[in-house]
Amino acid sequence: MARITLRQLLDHAAEKGYGVPAFNINNMEQLLAIMAAAQSVEAPVILQASRGARSYAGDVMLSKMIEAAEVMFPSTPIVMHQDHGNNEQTCYSAMLMGFTSVMMDGSLKADGKTPADYAYNTAITARVTEVAHDLGVSVEGELGCLGSLETGQGEAEDGHGAEGVLSHDQLLTDPEQAVEFVTATGVDALAIAMGTSHGAYKFSRKPDGDILAMNVVKEINARLPNLHLVMHGSSSVPEELQERFNRFGGKMPATWGVPVEEIQVGIKYGVRKINIDTDCRIAMAAELRRVCQEVPDEFDPRKFMKPSMDALTALCRSRFEAFGTAGQAKSLSAIPLATMAKRYRSGSLGPRPALSVAV
Ligand code: G3H
Ligand code: 13P
Ligand code: ZN
Repeated sequence: MARITLRQLLDHAAEKGYGVPAFNINNMEQLLAIMAAAQSVEAPVILQASRGARSYAGDVMLSKMIEAAEVMFPSTPIVMHQDHGNNEQTCYSAMLMGFTSVMMDGSLKADGKTPADYAYNTAITARVTEVAHDLGVSVEGELGCLGSLETGQGEAEDGHGAEGVLSHDQLLTDPEQAVEFVTATGVDALAIAMGTSHGAYKFSRKPDGDILAMNVVKEINARLPNLHLVMHGSSSVPEELQERFNRFGGKMPATWGVPVEEIQVGIKYGVRKINIDTDCRIAMAAELRRVCQEVPDEFDPRKFMKPSMDALTALCRSRFEAFGTAGQAKSLSAIPLATMAKRYRSGSLGPRPALSVAV
């Protein structure tokens, strides 16, 4: 199917009450494995590329791979999204490469490390939104910094994340400020800070409300019931995957991620996009390790990659099922970018925050 915008997909998800996992891609194997999962359960899919992915694969390769996916999986609606855009140039170049959605992450300065102030974040996000909407492209903003409520540390594990110690105020999105931010910027979706962080080492114990602040989701949803919320750092880092990774020579100390049941609660309170990369990485890496260990004379890369792809497909399928995304592709037909642009201009695609309620 022609690619669709994040806004179209999340509006549909809100109407039907489901969430959509956003999986990161860097190469053909990840793309094919994720698409196979989406097709097998008739789910729409959000594919996202970080700046790291864009420099790893190259913009031309990434955009041609998405074109190939559209041809190979004609019944699967695809959103192509820029993950953690650090400045305007990153977002505009993504739009030029055919991305239908961008994240302008103005919670950090353009270096991707220094926490930015509210005025900076609002101004840059509003500028990107104005341009994007004129082209029909969707925008995700972020308010608050990802990081651990246990340690007070931001996370720079993936090269994008606040450095050093952060206060609770920085680590938790302020619901009142969220209302102001979405009204001032007009973003289509808002990523929030609630104690999640990127990578495998999110929590040192099974998270409870002290370290995974689901109350932030509920408080924002109470004020902005129609706003699409985004949970970053939402890999679950399942024990079985840790165990499999370690069984074949990996060294991953025991750790906890975001339980799928908590994400399911979030979906009831407006979480529509759920970012997952680490689980995909571990699922693939565990199979690479297994083949290395079990078949030491193997040197055909396909023999390593195929089991990895199968593991990724199984993981993605289970997230599509858990979040209610499975089965939703058939009731979506692509709204062209030009139509989305016209709707933004005419105001008929009003900013969802306009539907906020006072609490
Ligand atoms: O934003 C976090 C994702 O896991 C992407 O990571 O920047 O290493 O590609 P990356
Ligand atoms: P994880 O590291 O938890 O998979 O989060 C990925 C993410 O938020 C990408 O933006
Ligand atoms: Zn993220």
